[in-house]
Amino acid sequence: MRDKGIAILGLGTIGMALAAGILRASLVPKERLAGTTAHPETAREVQERLGITVTTDNRALAREADLLILAVKPKTVPKVLLETRDVVSPRQVLISVAAATPTSLIEEVLDRPIPVVRAMPNIPSQIGQGMTGICAGRYAKAEHLELAKAIFGTVGRVALIEEEELMDAVTALSGSGPAYACLIIEALSEGGVKMGLPRKLATELAAQALLGGAALVLASGEHPALLKDEVTTPAGVTIDGLMALEAGGLRVALIKAVMAATARGKALGRVLSSRAMSREPPWT
Ligand SMILES: NC(=O)c1ccc[n+]([C@@H]2O[C@H](COP(=O)([O-])OP(=O)(O)OC[C@H]3O[C@@H](n4cnc5c(N)ncnc54)[C@H](OP(=O)(O)O)[C@@H]3O)[C@@H](O)[C@H]2O)c1
Repeated sequence: MRDKGIAILGLGTIGMALAAGILRASLVPKERLAGTTAHPETAREVQERLGITVTTDNRALAREADLLILAVKPKTVPKVLLETRDVVSPRQVLISVAAATPTSLIEEVLDRPIPVVRAMPNIPSQIGQGMTGICAGRYAKAEHLELAKAIFGTVGRVALIEEEELMDAVTALSGSGPAYACLIIEALSEGGVKMGLPRKLATELAAQALLGGAALVLASGEHPALLKDEVTTPAGVTIDGLMALEAGGLRVALIKAVMAATARGKALGRVLSSRAMSREPPWT
């Protein structure tokens, strides 16, 4: 890995989190990591912040790098692919983190057998606590998935998703999940405030309760229901809290949140794909 050149096209929120993780883990030397932004001002800012070369020239970086990470917004993906497709070759690997963007769509636009890996990281990647689902495109082999594992392993956990069909569900659960967690923390904290706790303390208690519960689930490998039962003393206080949550429909609300976000991802994917097929703007 250390001899690979990595280019991150789109050094925004996720691109920068990845760049920082790669540098922190010394996956490659600084000189072998570079990236782009849309605007020269942001390029200068990000270059200063990360200490790597940042330009607005996607083509130059795409030509040089062994590994390309595409981290622009889904609607900008076509533009960047069309801009770079005549300088990329099958010796390279392209990892896309764009939500709702199937590998088939990327392969179709590139129009050559480039190994493509689709990845869905999430925002806690910024602090090394991310979760990334990765899946292989048509031309990607085990070695390319290993490269992706190494990259996203620098910012958290990585799970291999065998069927690309499931990537919209991964996006809806894990990509969007930190937003759900923050809403739950905010609501629990309001509960604390309602019961007289100062807001700052209530937020800390709520956030650490979720973090601790999550860490326990991951460390033990136990079913969350078993861990919940351990906290729930007969005729104790927790069972009353749980009853209120069930009566309020929290469980079904969360299931529906993942269903709704998955449906939205699939719909967005269909729009992007149909534009690609008909070469509608911004595909032309
Ligand atoms: N944010 C998340 O939690 C998250 C999680 C998983 C996946 N993703 C995916 O990650 C991708 C990026 O999301 P983000 O939240 O990081 O977006 P963002 O913060 O808006 O970053 C987008 C970056 O792309 C740059 N850019 C725009 N047009 C470009 C072009 N033509 N060439 C090169 N760079 C260009 C922007 O540069 P300027 O700043 O100069 O405009 C910016 O640096 C999306 O596809 C999203 O689906 C995001």
